Amino acid sequence: MFERSRKGENALLIQPYSGAADPTLLEEFAELARSAGATVVGTVIAKIARRNPAYYIGTGKLEEVKLLCESTGADLVLFNQLLSPVQERNLEKALSRRVVDRTSLILDIFALRAHSHEGQLQVELAQLKHMATRLIRGWTHLERQRGGSIGLRGPGETQLEIDRRLLQKRVEQLEKRLEKVGVQRAQMRRARLRNELPRVALVGYTNAGKSTLFNALTESKVYVADKLFATLDPTVRRVEGLDCGPLVLSDTVGFVRDLPHELVAAFRSTLSEARDADLLLHVVDAADPLRDERIGQVNTVLKHIDAGEIPQLVVFNKIDLLEEAAPRRELPAAGVEKIWCSARTGEGLDLLRSALSERFVAQRVHGELQLQPKSARLRARLHAMGAISNEIADEHGWRVQLDLPRAQAEQLAAESGGHELEALLAGPVAPTYNH
Ligand code: GTP
Repeated sequence: MFERSRKGENALLIQPYSGAADPTLLEEFAELARSAGATVVGTVIAKIARRNPAYYIGTGKLEEVKLLCESTGADLVLFNQLLSPVQERNLEKALSRRVVDRTSLILDIFALRAHSHEGQLQVELAQLKHMATRLIRGWTHLERQRGGSIGLRGPGETQLEIDRRLLQKRVEQLEKRLEKVGVQRAQMRRARLRNELPRVALVGYTNAGKSTLFNALTESKVYVADKLFATLDPTVRRVEGLDCGPLVLSDTVGFVRDLPHELVAAFRSTLSEARDADLLLHVVDAADPLRDERIGQVNTVLKHIDAGEIPQLVVFNKIDLLEEAAPRRELPAAGVEKIWCSARTGEGLDLLRSALSERFVAQRVHGELQLQPKSARLRARLHAMGAISNEIADEHGWRVQLDLPRAQAEQLAAESGGHELEALLAGPVAPTYNH
């Protein structure tokens, strides 16, 4: 139903502005276009003194765009603004080319990147909703032309009316399905909570290197591409080998400035991974000249999704691209701890791992324990919880390597009167940082 920007499509970009021109807007838009698979063949900056209701840009500018379309061989025009359905239609007619606005382009990228069932449903829903407003507006416009609704109902109803009903049906169907998927997701989250592993979420501006870092920390392969929004669906994996025991790390969708509001809503569930986390790893591209603005933009979105209060560890990534030497680790003197590293070369990842361990080590208990034959029930429970990583049977019972959340160990010790666990619980505890 939806036309996607096919790979290799030649796109002409139009960047309207009213105040002072900001070249970074166009750069970012060009990145978005490439993310959708388009080849940028030209750009036009259009100063808008007064929005033209028919074309958004003025008619003189329209002529310029038309000529440029022909000389560059563009077959698609991308507009870095939300266009009204009428403007989109008029521009398409005047330019004899497909015209796509910013919201549709971002939706297009989301559609290309959505891999999970839930992600795909959410994208389709957002697309349908975006389209429905256009169809309905198109419809009222048509209705006016025909002079009211007489003759438009019943057997005389137009194709548009049928389309609108089909669309509404599909929207309802998708909403129902998403509700179900949401319940499943909540159940999964509860199961994870029961397991009580600390939860850490990677957040950050798009292209900061979250997926690369996710792979480096979990040694897994997630789709990594030098394209915006390479990650659409949250990916959740365990990080092993930390002094604090395993933790759960989730990768989330990249943030972008001016993300159309309805899209933030559509992707709330991907971002809920961040909302439920114990700690956020806020990944920043250290080599981005706009890195401070990006940090502010990400923090604004985090506030919107009620994740503004979650402790953060700021990870300045891509230090291999910096000319000056990076500070490596800055302790939380000003409230937030900062780690400087490179997910690509691995430099500084040891510091990141230690910082993570220090945060969570006090919440877990681990070490070796001698269990006597009379403690067979305790041993069975520890096995059922997945708390025993290694076990050797000897003449005194079992020597086990334990790793479990402190809260669970305390509960078990209380229930089983298990003085055996108490020795471990009394062990030394490393400090944690609270930001
Ligand atoms: P989105 O999914 O769009 O939010 O992106 P992301 O934050 O997950 O970024 P991703 O991991 O896809 O990386 C973006 C680009 O940066 C890729 O080309 C990576 O290879 C590159 N990259 C990531 N980390 C580093 C790094 O430490 N150094 C360098 N030089 N490049 C890196």
